[in-house]
Amino acid sequence: MATRLRVDIISVFPDYLAPLRLSLVGKAIDAGLIDLQVHDLRDFTHDRHRTVDDTPFGGGPGMVMKPEPWGEALDTVLASGSDQITPTLVVPTPSGALFNQARAASLANEQWLIFACGRYEGIDSRVVAHYSTRIPVLELSIGDFVLAGGEAAVLVMVEAAARLKPGVLGNVRSAADDSFSPTKDGAALEGPVFTKPALWRELAVPEVLQSGNHGAIKAWHLEQSALRTSQQRPELAD
Ligand code: 6GU
Repeated sequence: MATRLRVDIISVFPDYLAPLRLSLVGKAIDAGLIDLQVHDLRDFTHDRHRTVDDTPFGGGPGMVMKPEPWGEALDTVLASGSDQITPTLVVPTPSGALFNQARAASLANEQWLIFACGRYEGIDSRVVAHYSTRIPVLELSIGDFVLAGGEAAVLVMVEAAARLKPGVLGNVRSAADDSFSPTKDGAALEGPVFTKPALWRELAVPEVLQSGNHGAIKAWHLEQSALRTSQQRPELAD
């Protein structure tokens, strides 16, 4: 049974999340497999300037997101759900745990995800402290670099999770064969792929792939996968 995934995203740039309505994730939304709701954090402010940030206690550069709009936004989203389903709150931050294929798979298993996109120097830490007492909270980073806000990271995480949901990918086998897939046999990275024509700009498709010998083809893919892993990601090679 394909279970529906509810995804709420809170951001000061709701338009940033519009690309989720395209392509694979967009099709999953249209098919009713994903229920996407994007919320503007500024709708949960009450001053004329719709202020979401302030200077940091203790000094230092930049601005910190105020806790009150986040509290109101998150309480509103939480109150809109059923008591039967506990959401997981995902807070994208460069100081979070590393998001990887295993994390994507566990997000894909959830029924309800709420993403809180921080901007500036981040969200007042009491927001995570408070919601951690009420629901599971994951602070996740998509890599060792710093983005201007969590929105681009949420595009990455939602797409990576969505394509693992049953019914989202046309071909169920293609997720199992992915680089980093725990169900993939052999090395971590996928090797090269080819399609027609068999000869293009004097470059030929490897003979073995045209041989029809499935054992030889499988062995070739495993060998290419190991080669690529040792060349591009030696730390992942065994
Ligand atoms: Cl999740 N957010 C931000 N702002 N920067 C990041 C990141 C997330 N992951 C890596 N860099």
